[in-house]
Amino acid sequence: MKILITGGAGFIGSHFTRYWLQKYPKDSITILDLLDYAGNKDILDEFKKHRNVTVIKGDICNKKLVQTVTKNCDTLFHLAAQTHVDRSIHSSDPFIQTNIVGTQNLLESSRINHVKKFVYISTDEVYGSIQNGKFVETDSLHPSSPYSASKAGGDLLCLAYWHTYKFPVIITRCCNNFGPHQFPEKVIPVFITHLLEGKKIPLYGNGKNVREWIYVLDHCRAIDLVFQKGKLGEIYNIGSGTELNNLDLAKLILKNLDFPTRFIQQVTDRPGHDLRYALNSSKLRKLGFQPKHTFTEYMHETIRWYKENTAWWKQIKDTSPYKKYFKKQYPGLTRILR
Ligand code: NAD
Ligand code: DAU
Repeated sequence: MKILITGGAGFIGSHFTRYWLQKYPKDSITILDLLDYAGNKDILDEFKKHRNVTVIKGDICNKKLVQTVTKNCDTLFHLAAQTHVDRSIHSSDPFIQTNIVGTQNLLESSRINHVKKFVYISTDEVYGSIQNGKFVETDSLHPSSPYSASKAGGDLLCLAYWHTYKFPVIITRCCNNFGPHQFPEKVIPVFITHLLEGKKIPLYGNGKNVREWIYVLDHCRAIDLVFQKGKLGEIYNIGSGTELNNLDLAKLILKNLDFPTRFIQQVTDRPGHDLRYALNSSKLRKLGFQPKHTFTEYMHETIRWYKENTAWWKQIKDTSPYKKYFKKQYPGLTRILR
């Protein structure tokens, strides 16, 4: 089978590519990735050595390029996106371009080129916040940030292509992922790497916001299952059932790294910060899914990975675009040495 993975140099896309290579070694994979700030060049070097993988550096908004790469493809897993909520609050343009215009471009070329299955990797954030209970796939969409609104735009376009053209799409909506190689702008790598540098960790607001956490490999397994057994035109929530508020998350990481709670620094809250995300994943469970990687054990593993791979995240944190972003996002965050 010929697979196209967009965003294969990103956090989830690179885990997914490695997962697929191991599980289906006969398939040939093309990765299309812009290699923007979140794209991982080292990982691509690893994939380039594999004879079944072709890496194309390019933009999903580029019509000509996308027309060419979708010509020779049976299945497309669409993960490329602008993904960080705080960045979307600073500047929403790239989010609209990539997540909406880019998704439409991929859909249209894939339709013309008769791609057999198009799996769109969406997010629980499209539902908005929920105080009690859990979202099911038929709930209406109430995205609150420019990021989630742009992802919801992608969802709706996929559904429109199914309804109008019977173009074979499947949508997955996953909760928060964690694991190795996550870019140090998302909360878990921010907390871990700050502590490893002897810095305080920035907790937004009162820390009562709740997220549902899944280990990245379980997300990959669930995408595979939905691809194999899911129904065309349908949406599948991907949740782990593990909910945690940010204060408890911070305390768990502090404890793991043996730091006292005074290393938590409350900072200005994220504007429009969603209080809680929680998914009802029974539809996925009915396909036979069970998460394999427990939160506590794999959080421990993740922390160990960041400890052992300081060169990876330090080279990111040392770049001037990262430093600029960091200053803008966390003005006045103090450094404390133990
Ligand atoms: P990431 O930011 O780590 O990676 C995104 C990748 O997309 C990068 O490699 C980047 O270079 C690439 N990219 C960005 N714009 C592009 C463009 N215009 N053309 C081609 N490539 C482009 O993101 P991630 O956390 O791995 O998320 C992957 C997907 O999963 C996204 O669609 C995201 O919305 C979704 N998702 C993420 C989570 C999570 O917790 N991280 C949860 C649910 C869903
Ligand atoms: O729910 C799935 C989504 O999870 C994905 O679709 C997004 O791509 C991904 O970025 C993630 O979004 P969140 O906004 O939930 O993740 P983030 O890691 O940015 O923040 C998680 C929680 O931690 C959130 O309540 C905000 C808080 N936070 C975040 C940062 C970066 C802090 O308290 N301090 C921080 O420094």
